[in-house]
Amino acid sequence: MPNDPNTSRPEGSRSDEGSTLYGRTHDQLIQGHRYDGIKEYDNPMPGWWIWIFWGSIAFSVVYFVGITWFDFVDTYEDDLAQSQEALAIQRAEYAEANPTFEATPASLAEFIGNSDRTASGEETYQSLCASCHGDKGQGVIGPNLTDPYWIHGGTNMDIFNILTEGVAEKGMPAWDASLRPEERAELVAFIQSIQGTEPEGAKAPEGERME
Ligand code: HEC
Repeated sequence: MPNDPNTSRPEGSRSDEGSTLYGRTHDQLIQGHRYDGIKEYDNPMPGWWIWIFWGSIAFSVVYFVGITWFDFVDTYEDDLAQSQEALAIQRAEYAEANPTFEATPASLAEFIGNSDRTASGEETYQSLCASCHGDKGQGVIGPNLTDPYWIHGGTNMDIFNILTEGVAEKGMPAWDASLRPEERAELVAFIQSIQGTEPEGAKAPEGERME
C-alpha cells in the first residue's frame, strides 16, 4: 500500500538521517493514535535537548557525590571560609602597611626627642594651636605650654589625653577627630621640646607645678 496514511511520510519532512542537533527524525505515525483526524508522530526529542537532559542528570550525580562525600565541590561554607581567609590576609597586609599608633607611655616616649617627630609636631602646632597658645607656646587665650605648671598634668600621656579630649567648657578643642594619633603624639613631642624655654611675654603660670 504505497499511500497508506499510517506509514507514508508527509511531504517536505526530514529524512531519517540523524544529526547531533536534531536527533533522528522518523516521522512515523504512532499506530492507532488518530483522533478526529489528528495524527501523532513518533519523533524523538531533538538531539540538543537530549544532550542537555542527560548532561544535567550526569552533572547532578557528579555534583551530589562531590559535595556530599568526596569534597571536590565546594559548599557554601567552604566558599565563605575561603573568602574570609582572603579577607583576613588582606586586612593583615593593610594593617602591616598602615600600622595604627596606640598611645602608651612607651610609644609616646619614642616620639620625645625625635627631631623629625618634633618638627612635624611644630608644623601642626603653628597652624592649629599657635592662635591660642602663642607661636612659642608662651600662652594667649590658652595657657603657657613652656612652664612646668599644668592644669591637666604634664606627663606625655596627660598631654596626649588633653589633646584627644579637649576641655570644651574652657575653649580647648578636642582633636581626636581632626588629628591622627601620630599627629597628636608629634604635638606632645613638640610641647615637651619647648619646656623651659621661657619665651618673651610668657603667660603667668596656671595649674600646679610638676616636674
Ligand atoms: C581655641 C583656642 C585653643 C586652641 C585652638 C587650642 N587650645 Fe589648647 N587650650 C586652650 C585653653 C583655653 C586651654 C585651657 C583649658 C583649661 O583651662 O582646662 C587649653 C589647654 C591646653 C593644654 C593643657 C594645658 C595644661 O596646663 O594642662 C594643652 C597641652 C593644649 N591646650 C595644647 C593644645 C594644642 C597642642 C593645640 C593645637 C592642636 C591646642 N591646644 C589648641 C585653648 C586652645
